[in-house]
Amino acid sequence: MKFKAKTASWDKIEVDALAVLVTEEDYQTVTSRMNIKLDGQLHNFLANEGFSGKEGQFIAFPSGGRLAAKIVYVLGVGKKGDLTLSGLRKLAATLGKKAKSSGKKTLAIDLVSELTPKIAISDSARVLVEGLELGTYRYEKYKTVDQENKNELTDVWFLVPPAKLQHITNAITNSQIGVAGTLFARDLINESPTITTPTYLANAAMTLGRQKNIKVEIMDEKDVRKLGMGAYLAVTRGSAEPLKFIKLVYSGGGKKKIVLAGKGITFDTGGLSLKDAKNMETMKLDMSGAATVLGVFSILSQLKPAVTVIGLIAACENMPGSRATKPGDIAVAMNGKSIEILNTDAEGRLTLADMLSYAVNEKPDYIIDLATLTGACMVALGEEVAGLFTNNEKLGDLITQAAAESGEKVWQLPLEIEYRETIKSHIADLRNVATSRYGGAITAALFLEEFVSNIPWVHMDIAGPAFEEKDTAVNPKGGVGFGVRTLITFLENL
Ligand code: BES
Ligand code: MN
Ligand code: ZN
Repeated sequence: MKFKAKTASWDKIEVDALAVLVTEEDYQTVTSRMNIKLDGQLHNFLANEGFSGKEGQFIAFPSGGRLAAKIVYVLGVGKKGDLTLSGLRKLAATLGKKAKSSGKKTLAIDLVSELTPKIAISDSARVLVEGLELGTYRYEKYKTVDQENKNELTDVWFLVPPAKLQHITNAITNSQIGVAGTLFARDLINESPTITTPTYLANAAMTLGRQKNIKVEIMDEKDVRKLGMGAYLAVTRGSAEPLKFIKLVYSGGGKKKIVLAGKGITFDTGGLSLKDAKNMETMKLDMSGAATVLGVFSILSQLKPAVTVIGLIAACENMPGSRATKPGDIAVAMNGKSIEILNTDAEGRLTLADMLSYAVNEKPDYIIDLATLTGACMVALGEEVAGLFTNNEKLGDLITQAAAESGEKVWQLPLEIEYRETIKSHIADLRNVATSRYGGAITAALFLEEFVSNIPWVHMDIAGPAFEEKDTAVNPKGGVGFGVRTLITFLENL
């Protein structure tokens, strides 16, 4: 989809569809000039259809040659006071899907009159780009579709006031970069898990390494053994696919160094603590954190934030092969802590233990990890909200702020020290599952905290929002690419 801000007049723009967003308060005044051009028929039609500007109301009215546009879409956004950027993003997704499914290729959106003084036009443009792109995305690689007659919305033009043209053009470009990173992550998650192996992720990283200011290093089992990553090695034992420890470094100058670590289990069967069929169905999603890190790296050289970013992915499969780790096995992580592995399905925290230990040795200012870590986090916060844990409230606030700006939902949960008892082992330093089944997202985060030393750290448990089990407005069923836009907003804000 191509986007462009233009100062053209709404009645002269030659497009398949012209969309006007209107509030309950002023849908009549905003459309009055258009109504005159359409011989008074538009307002009659709106009245007949019971249109009142309520959020989500949608009217399509053919122009009959009286405008250069073939059809006019009038889209209700609700009351001025109620309008939010996430509401607008959702409406844009609906608009995009309507236009696409009815075969429109070119769409103009009139942004000349601001919807509410609360929201800058450039912000509207930004979330409209996001909603249109994220909402109409489909992973169609394996679908038999008629390529000739494939519906594709190719061009979107924003009609804007001349004084704001440059500002809005910049906002659109920036938004497109964020979207590109998100879609990059979605494609990786949605691909078949037998294709998206650790080696596949490593190759994807290598390709990103061709971009300016990005260097990539791939470590194999031998290297990982040398590093003493016993916890990570314990997870990969049952798999025939070789592990890949992936390190990406983006050098953008500046003083700050940030590690982004993504859980990269390319398939989670649970290992010998095997998952049941239903719970295993979506487990290709278990590399979503890794996909987010790669999604961020796919756009860093375009975005050029003045920071150093180190991306880490301890990629492997969790399989119940004949050499698989057994419940009761003890592994020693890179930082020297020993772990009694009682449940091989709590594998994410084992790979993270070594990734975080490695991250500490890089002496970064911040460590941020993203992991589809616990079903318990989904029980606590549902499918849309990520759990956020931190040992540093200032960093936590920065991420929370960035998430709010990007429209991704996070909610902080406590690293409750009273629960530390539950992850102590009688035979090793730690056990990989808590003795209590309550507060599972918290006890998992407490486990990770054992490996970050005193470095400011945020852990995001994205088990819920990483993957949609059914279509939502902005995210179709499948991989979401959650976190990409939060992280780039965070890096840009630094
Ligand atoms: N990858 C899963 C967590 C998960 C579950 C992500 C559902 C997305 C959707 C993780 O490795 C896991 O299996 N966690 C266990 C931990 C338990 C054994 C302590 C869980 O949540 O059941
Ligand atoms: Mn698991
Ligand atoms: Zn897992």
